[in-house]
Amino acid sequence: MNSATTQGKAALELDGLRKSFGKTEIIRGVDLSIGDGERHAIIGPNGAGKSTLFNLITGRFPSTSGKVRLNGQDLAGLAPFQINRMGLSRSFQITNIFPKMTVFENVRCSLLWARGYKYSFWHMVSRAPDLTEAAEAILEQINLTERRDLPAGVLSYAEQRALEIGITMAGGANVIMLDEPTAGMSHSETDYIVDLIRKVTEGKTLIMVEHDMGVVFGLADRISVLVYGEIIATGRPEEVRANPKVQEAYLGAALEAEH
Ligand SMILES: Nc1ncnc2c1ncn2[C@@H]1O[C@H](COP(=O)(O)OP(=O)(O)OP(=O)(O)O)[C@@H](O)[C@H]1O
Ligand SMILES: [Mg+2]
Repeated sequence: MNSATTQGKAALELDGLRKSFGKTEIIRGVDLSIGDGERHAIIGPNGAGKSTLFNLITGRFPSTSGKVRLNGQDLAGLAPFQINRMGLSRSFQITNIFPKMTVFENVRCSLLWARGYKYSFWHMVSRAPDLTEAAEAILEQINLTERRDLPAGVLSYAEQRALEIGITMAGGANVIMLDEPTAGMSHSETDYIVDLIRKVTEGKTLIMVEHDMGVVFGLADRISVLVYGEIIATGRPEEVRANPKVQEAYLGAALEAEH
């Protein structure tokens, strides 16, 4: 198997993707195919363009050129919410919850949104028992059942990130994108979130930007290394770790920083 490509069906395909902000080209021709059910990590130095790549995939920014395909469908011109409803959901690098709403309401809100309710139907929400059940099932999955009725803003940082993962999963998307899910966490919080990610993304496609090499090597089936807007290597963890180009450009320094 050529590890730069995938066997079987691709969940996500990037084809000659480019993005410039003004005169500066930030994403400089990215080709990547991520298989259905694969856990794929994107690593690289600060400012390499990882979050920008996420923003191109999710439709937040239009690309300058190139294609993004989700389950074989071209996403050109689609708005983020349309892409979301096609089964792709993301979390942001910065925590993105409603702090004054309860934990339960945060999840219910994301479910409503995913199901396409309009605001005028909000008064009907409490009368939708399946919605309550679905929200409770998600709370169970992310281990926040006991925090159900607390304002989300009082949760610990790790719990807030867990909630965010729940919100990201709520619409039932098959392709989940997480931008630095363990950023700013202690070792024990990181272990907790990694176990959670492993559990909730079972059978789904995961694309994750992550700086913590322990997390990357523990979770990813394959890794892509993005340096100055270009993928310099894609492969299984052991292949990427042994790649001299990667060692030189990034991994040597990143692994040293772990110790
Ligand atoms: N909306 C924007 N307008 C102009 N420049 C931008 C914009 N978004 C990102 N950039 C620039 O693109 C480059 C890549 O940024 P990006 O946030 O994608 O990097 P990153 O790999 O996610 O970095 P980090 O590891 O620090 O999160 C940076 O130089 C950044 O300043
Ligand atoms: Mg980033």
